[in-house]
Amino acid sequence: MSKKEILPGIYWVGAIDWNVRNFHGHTYTTKRGTTYNAYLIVDEKVALVDTVLHSFSDEMIDRIKQVIPPEKIDYIIANHVEKDHSGALPEIIKYCPKAKVVGTAKCKDGLYKNYCGGAPVRWTGQDFRTVKTGDKISLGKRTLSFIEAPMLHWPDSMFTYIPEDALLIPNDAFGQHYASGERFDDEVDECGLMDEAAKYYANILWPLSSIVLKKIEDVQKINLPIKIIAPSHGIIWRRDPMKIVNAYAGWAKNETKPKAVIVYETMWGATEKMARKISEGMTDAGVSVKLYDVSQSDRTEIIGEMLDSRGFVLGSSTHGNGMLPSIYGFLEFLKGLKPKNRTGFAFGSYGWAGGAVRNIENILREAGVEIGGTGLSVRYAPDENEIKGCYEAGRTFAEKCKHI
Ligand code: FEO
Repeated sequence: MSKKEILPGIYWVGAIDWNVRNFHGHTYTTKRGTTYNAYLIVDEKVALVDTVLHSFSDEMIDRIKQVIPPEKIDYIIANHVEKDHSGALPEIIKYCPKAKVVGTAKCKDGLYKNYCGGAPVRWTGQDFRTVKTGDKISLGKRTLSFIEAPMLHWPDSMFTYIPEDALLIPNDAFGQHYASGERFDDEVDECGLMDEAAKYYANILWPLSSIVLKKIEDVQKINLPIKIIAPSHGIIWRRDPMKIVNAYAGWAKNETKPKAVIVYETMWGATEKMARKISEGMTDAGVSVKLYDVSQSDRTEIIGEMLDSRGFVLGSSTHGNGMLPSIYGFLEFLKGLKPKNRTGFAFGSYGWAGGAVRNIENILREAGVEIGGTGLSVRYAPDENEIKGCYEAGRTFAEKCKHI
């Protein structure tokens, strides 16, 4: 698509990455692709807020050229040093060598480390203006106001705010990996959009929830009017921008619903039989359940489902006195997300010596999940009584999911 004027004199000049399917070094699957959003603000002075992944540099520069000659850019605001937003910086500054790059002190350090080591081009000598919360740059009719946002989600992160439009450009915060020719929330399917926003929060921001909440509270305290939120990935929120802010507040508080996610890995099918019966028991007791064989499923999707689920049920066949490798990798990832206010229990089959159930419980505890049910271990395949036991365990655990 061409450049898009999102407000009079403010243009989206980013790039749509329709085909990317793995992000952050295969830690995140992007089934809907993504966008790298850059915004060009044309006033008496011209500012470019963020850039794009290096491989999309030419597209961004072409879109800028559709509005103004790039050499007219006075400021390049680097809200975040990560390469999906700063990758095109070495290319664009070739067109505007006198433009000031603006960012936090940590951003400056990160940019120099990223780009002065030789890749993708040397970047030295560019004038850099270090800013902190409350600093402003007047462009003429509009003002750029800066809000440091450390650890949302890197130490260098910053929001840019334009008070004249009540426009917040918060870089990664409030983003979604959602490729689309449309730019606004009122132009796309709302369910798909919120699904991607939740998945993005769960997989990237969940462990930073206390910082997210503090930042939202800080912004609420100063009564910052917000009419539009234009993140660096995906769709711009303009229909009801507080909807995504409120959703973030709920996720950051680890608010949950009476839902459960069952994740398991099975060797010969016995653990899977247990998983299905536990699921039946929980569903019959009125709890909404999603069930995943982790070896066949997309981890990013499962984590997205877990974000507002109260119950985590994890199962594995025993292998080598421990659990199978895919579920082990999944649990280690989950542990890093530091979920709170969750209850869990473990199950699995074994042949002669168990171990998987105990090991799962240990990792759940390390992750901060309360163990809310007695672990279920079955030797070889579950018999009729053991199948009944799985069903009953599901019903009992469902009550726990309804009431914690
Ligand atoms: Fe979208 Fe932290 O980069």
